[in-house]
Order: sequence, then C-alpha cells, then structure tokens
Amino acid sequence: MFETLKILPPDPILGLGQEFLKSDHPNKVNLSVGVYKTDTGNTPIFKAVKAAEQHMIDEQDSKVYIAQQGDPKFLQGMHTLLLGEELSKSLADRSSVCMTPGGCGALRLAAETVFNANPNATVWFSTPTWGNHFPLIESAGLITAEYPYYDHTTGLVDFDAMLAALEIIPAGDLVLFHACCHNPTGADLSKSQWDQVIDVAERQGLIPWFDIAYQGFGKSLDDDAYSLRIAAERLPEVIVVASCSKNFGLYRERTGAALFINKNAKQAEAAKTNAISLMRKSYSMSPFHGGGIVGTILSDAGLTTMWKDEVIEICAHVQNLRQEFTDKLNSKQSKKDFSFITQNQGMFSFLGIELEDALKLRSEYGIYILNSTRLNMAGLSSANIDYVTDSIAAVLNQ
Ligand SMILES: Cc1ncc(COP(=O)(O)O)c(C=O)c1O
Repeated sequence: MFETLKILPPDPILGLGQEFLKSDHPNKVNLSVGVYKTDTGNTPIFKAVKAAEQHMIDEQDSKVYIAQQGDPKFLQGMHTLLLGEELSKSLADRSSVCMTPGGCGALRLAAETVFNANPNATVWFSTPTWGNHFPLIESAGLITAEYPYYDHTTGLVDFDAMLAALEIIPAGDLVLFHACCHNPTGADLSKSQWDQVIDVAERQGLIPWFDIAYQGFGKSLDDDAYSLRIAAERLPEVIVVASCSKNFGLYRERTGAALFINKNAKQAEAAKTNAISLMRKSYSMSPFHGGGIVGTILSDAGLTTMWKDEVIEICAHVQNLRQEFTDKLNSKQSKKDFSFITQNQGMFSFLGIELEDALKLRSEYGIYILNSTRLNMAGLSSANIDYVTDSIAAVLNQ
C-alpha cells in the first residue's frame, strides 16, 4: 500500500534547522528557526515554569484523564490572559476556551470547528503569512484567499492596501490576523490602525480570527492583545488561537488554546461541544503537562508576577537586539537603510535583501536565514552580532 506514497521534502523551516546542524562552518549562526534564545544562545526553562512543575510533582496524585476541554485553571487563566479581566467576565457566557496541543493544534481545531459550521467558509490570510497557516487550515477543508499586508519597500505594513482589500471581502468570510509580532515580517499595526480594521470588519460583517503566538514579545502582554480585545468587545463572532510555546517557553510540551466568542450562550455551547467532539475523533484530548503548568502559573499571584517579569525581560532583550543590529548594519554599509527593523516587533523581520545574497550568507558565511530573508533577532548575541552584521555588509558591498 505505501508504495503509492511519495517521499516528501522536509518542512522549509525545520529542514533548514537540520541543514544548519550538518554545516561544518566554524562561525555558523542559526537565525532561521523561531525560538527565543538568551545572549548565551540558550533557550532556558522559565523560572516560573520550573516552580510550577515542581509544585505539580509535589501535588499531583493521579494521571487519570482530565476533562476533554482541558484543565479548568488553564482555561480560566487563558481566557483572562487573552481578553483581560473585564472582558473575560463580560463575555463569560458567550465564549469558551479549549486546551489544545500547541498553537498549531488550536489553529487546526478552530479550522475544523469552522468547517463544521460552514464547509464553504473562506479564510483570508495576510501576504505574507506564517508558512504553516495554509497547510493547517486548508487541510481542514477550508478555502483560503489572501489580502495585501507588507510593503517590501518600507519594511512596514502597507496599511492602505490592506484596508482597501478588507473593504471588499464578502460578509461572513473569516480574516486571519496576527494579533502582534507578525510572523514572518515583524510589521504590526498601530492601535489606531487596528481600530480602523475592526470598523471595516464590523461594517462588512467579517469574522476576525486572531493568531496570537507571541503575546508579550511586542510591547507588553496587554498591548499585544489590543487587537483581539477590541474585536471581542465590538463584534458578535471572533476566534482566537493562542500558543504558549514562546511566551511560556513550552515549545515541546505542545500547549495552546482555541477561544471562540459567539453571538449568544447557545451558539457558544454549540461551538464548544463541536470542538470537543472533533478532538475526540482525532486525539481525544490535549496532553496535560504544559496546560497544567500554565494553569498553575496563572492561578497563583506569585508565579504570575514571576512569569510576567520574565516575559518583560525577553521583550526588552529582543528590542535591544533590534536596535543594536540596526545601528551596526547601518554603520557598516550604505546600500540599504535597515531602520525599519527597529519599528518591527517580536522576534522576526525580513532583512529585505536579494535571495541570492541570503543564499550567499548561508553558503559562504554559515549564516542561516530563511529564503524569504526572515531572520530571528533572538538568534543574535554579543558573541555573533559583529560577525553577522560584518557578513551582511560584506555581501551587500560586493
Ligand atoms: C504565527 C504562529 N502561529 C502559530 C504558531 C504555532 O506554535 P506552536 O509551536 O505552539 O504550535 C507559531 C509558531 O511558530 C507561529 O509563529
């Protein structure tokens, strides 16, 4: 039977990580994979996570199944983290959260739930978007389309083009937004631009679907949720999918959440029970450990403070790297002004150089960025930032 299957190429991002491991370049630097690193190149376990894990080891007396929807502390904690205290209370009776295996699991579960509600639904993505959005959502059976988003000449959002495109999307279609720290470009909307987007969504009858995988990495935990909170406040139906991989550092634990905000309590119950039924038909329920950690942190004031401080530190570290990287790059060459990088947010930016130059960085200098020229700022460090900026300048000046 399996002779009918073709051998598939590796995932473009994960495959490049494998290629990096094999490289024997003495100065190799991996800026391709979307993982946070400290200045020593480590991706540490958060102190709050370690403390929560210890607490779980001490307290847990059974590994019996939990409710399919997920750990109650996790569900409540994520509802409040995403929506903020006030909205979390006011929307309690017409919204629900499900614990999922990572942000990818949340995207897939939300997509399948949407498919159950409307098999002809179309989901609009920004151009460009994170590479896994298309396969995740299309394989659930949904139709996809694209709206313009990024201006390659400025390195920022092409807001006029985006807004004009949203104005003509048919009512009832879903529009996927990166709530903050747009992946791959790092180009985000300002609060007043989000206000205008939600005005259009309201007028047009669009259903916003927010992917929030980097809450706290842009400006702050609250600022980064601005977009989805104003949508949730004003619109009858909103979907939010969240990943705890980055802002809790739980990558391998596969922890995420799907939040459905519905028109009324009855529809909220229908969305939730459909999502639960879809889980049962594939993986039955989410793994517990990561959600247990998040639930333990978010239900304990001391651990929450400890965790928030760690997120603030990460956010500041990435912002400092952006500034230093830009200053060094601009001082070492004059072919391109890289100042837009300081206006981008989160871990990623497009370098905006030619593909040929990106490939040269890889083959000649051992510096790995994606073919799209996306690079992960957090892969920079005091040990490699001079080498990286010297190499980029050398390639541009050739
Ligand atoms: C925009 C975006 N959404 C979702 C995810 C999924 O994250 P997870 O690893 O939690 O599945 C990522 C991870 O890189 C991401 O960048």
